[in-house]
Amino acid sequence: MKSGLTLGIETSCDETAAAIVKDGTEVISNVVLSQIDIHQKYGGVVPEIASRHHIEAIFPVINEALDKANVSLEDIEVIAVAYGPGLVGSLLVGVAAAKSLAFATQKPIVGVNHIEGHIYANFLDGQSVTPPLVCLTVSGGHTDLLLIPRLGEYEIIGRTRDDAAGEAFDKVARVLGLPYPGGPQIEKLALEGNKGAIHFPRGLQEHGNFDFSFSGLKTAALNYLNQAKQKDEMVDLPDFAASFQWAIIDILTEKLMAAAEKYGVNQVVLSGGVAANSTFRNYVQKCVDERGLELLYPPVHFCTDNAAMIASAGYFRYNAGYRSDYSLNAVANLRLGDK
Ligand code: KG4
Ligand code: ZN
Repeated sequence: MKSGLTLGIETSCDETAAAIVKDGTEVISNVVLSQIDIHQKYGGVVPEIASRHHIEAIFPVINEALDKANVSLEDIEVIAVAYGPGLVGSLLVGVAAAKSLAFATQKPIVGVNHIEGHIYANFLDGQSVTPPLVCLTVSGGHTDLLLIPRLGEYEIIGRTRDDAAGEAFDKVARVLGLPYPGGPQIEKLALEGNKGAIHFPRGLQEHGNFDFSFSGLKTAALNYLNQAKQKDEMVDLPDFAASFQWAIIDILTEKLMAAAEKYGVNQVVLSGGVAANSTFRNYVQKCVDERGLELLYPPVHFCTDNAAMIASAGYFRYNAGYRSDYSLNAVANLRLGDK
């Protein structure tokens, strides 16, 4: 059936999500059931608990997405599912659900790389994604700097050697006693702070190096808090948050701009949960404007994990002739470009 409707399914971490997207760009319905409340008391995602909740939620969430879109499974042209990277037990739930629906309805199925999904989130509000471009995907699990010469082709020009940027936010927030996920909490605290108050180190700052490292920053931030505690000194939390956040934003933006210049692209694209940070967006916007480049980033609700982005990436893959079969399996460490 040529309806142009894709059912997207996403269960790679702690969100059970399903969406119906038309022609890869028009979001008809988008249901995200977050497990944040459940994992908050542990300070991070507990994989075993996440997969159990996905199992309970997956079919109700898919049904809700179909109901909200006022369509039935029969109307769907293709089923797209994130099969990696992520937590293997979580991914398996989405993959098994997608395969069983595809088998029952004899619809085609397309496996999607979750990171590719984050990039395609930029298609969901009518933006024109036009390679060649450089894209920075910054989430809780990834910090990847990509050159995209053509749609569907990815060259990883830099990635984190240790923690992901979102992970650094989450770990420092946890030490501050802030709830998971830490990024939005630190962003809120930082609004009242001075980003120049404390100088935190930037990792791998040498020219021409597009890799990232956040473990030194994390250690420096934790040391700062410990030393203050030992000396019985008060920490100015907004200043601390603003300075810490700035150390991340500064190095991300510096490398993104250097990559845009080196590869001579006109478009710069942000994706992933950390791209929801408005201080980051605004600073990248300023730097991009100064260079006469164009910046794209998804609306905040499509930055964090959702299934509409998976449906979009899946639809474009499907149109390019790509199909998965029933041997599709979860791949925890799937890399962009892997088949
Ligand atoms: O893309 P995402 O929802 O899940 C992964 O694929 O990891 O990203 C979640 C990450 C978390 O680490 C969270 O702290 C971070 O994105 N994040 C933010 C903000 N919103 C979410 N980090 C900084 N500022 C934000 N406003
Ligand atoms: Zn993600």
